[in-house]
Amino acid sequence: MCLFMYVRKSLRRCYLSGVPGRCRNPRSRMTLSLANRQILLGITGGIAAYKSAELVRRLRDSGATVRVIMTPAATEFITPLTLQALSGNPVHTALLDPEAEAGMGHIELARWADLLLVAPASADFMARLAQGQGDDLLATVCLATRAPVCLAPAMNQAMWRNSATQANADILRQRGITLWGPAEGAQACGDTGPGRMLEVPELLALLASRFDTGLLAGQRVLITAGPTREAIDPVRYISNHSSGKMGFALAQACADAGAITTLVAGPVSLPTPARVTRIDVTSALEMHEAVMSRAGETDIVIAAAAVADFRPASVAADKIKKTAADTMTIELVKNPDIVASVTALPTAPFTVGFAAETQDVAGHALDKLQRKRLDMIIANDVGRRDIGFGSDDNAVTVYWPGGSAGFDKMVKQPLAQRLLEKLVELQRSKKQHH
Ligand code: C5P
Repeated sequence: MCLFMYVRKSLRRCYLSGVPGRCRNPRSRMTLSLANRQILLGITGGIAAYKSAELVRRLRDSGATVRVIMTPAATEFITPLTLQALSGNPVHTALLDPEAEAGMGHIELARWADLLLVAPASADFMARLAQGQGDDLLATVCLATRAPVCLAPAMNQAMWRNSATQANADILRQRGITLWGPAEGAQACGDTGPGRMLEVPELLALLASRFDTGLLAGQRVLITAGPTREAIDPVRYISNHSSGKMGFALAQACADAGAITTLVAGPVSLPTPARVTRIDVTSALEMHEAVMSRAGETDIVIAAAAVADFRPASVAADKIKKTAADTMTIELVKNPDIVASVTALPTAPFTVGFAAETQDVAGHALDKLQRKRLDMIIANDVGRRDIGFGSDDNAVTVYWPGGSAGFDKMVKQPLAQRLLEKLVELQRSKKQHH
């Protein structure tokens, strides 16, 4: 209880003080960047584990969903029950627990996370992670996840300074793991020096900054996503398997990058990303209208929707009845090509298309790039079952007039961020050449 009060007080001090580089303007941007995020918090054994309880509360206040994994040593410092109550989710503690695995297994947890933060990260945990060990649930999930992994080390100053710990820290950094802290100061053991876990507001600000790239600050982006549905009669339609996940991930990444983002979505069952204006449409004609009425005031258009190429020439007013004939014919007419209508505008925005192909991916993508006068096309092989439509992963090749780049299989959200970086680079070089 006393410890919590101490943390509260120090939080208030920190919020009010505006210490440069520490927790400046902590609330407003943070709440935005952390909304709807799925944060997996790993807690290892150390006295700083008490701060993790406050961290969970603040993350939830910021709109994030939090799941907690505790190592056995962590449960000696703070109870799983406390973390369960604060996170609103069951706490995961054991790797070989059939009941927990039946709920959300370790691989699902690893996949669920948008970011994995281990706070506090003990010297022992860092050593095990540096060795690539999978000897408990948290270490295993760190190995299995493709989400960014960040550590907030906390330990006695001599342990932190020890060359073994420093070597482990270097190995972890080389492998792309981010280390936040430790801070210097008075330690619970009475020592003074580096080894204190960063304070909760500092960790929140760092977490928020991971999602907030600022790459597209002030730009207006319009994204199409999902399938379209072309009505045959009041109960039937023609459509496709697009889940909308890639377009939604791109919309989230654009909003994170500071863009004013509008998402024109076909019928999909996905939550609207934070800070994104969503316009729901059903048919290609509706999508065309929604896009063309806005494209003139847009800097970037990303056409991720799988638009039906054709629609029934007429929609039957009543349900079509079965007849004795073995065949039936529906006359189809071509839908407008939305992305090609955008690039035909007198002052066309920077326009990105997608090519979902099952064969000769490169050939078709390059043909579309030229024919639709796109600035960039993102091509994927939807014939592969492990990626593409409906999957959480994707692997793509990007083509632009004069070049191409491959992006290996990864979760759609980090992939979306990487694709945006490429987009911004190409947009800048296009501006320079005009
Ligand atoms: O021609 P295809 O459908 O393969 O082209 C795919 C690209 O064109 C995607 O970016 C898709 O969103 C866009 N498209 C469109 N309107 C259509 C058909 C495709 O914007 N009617």
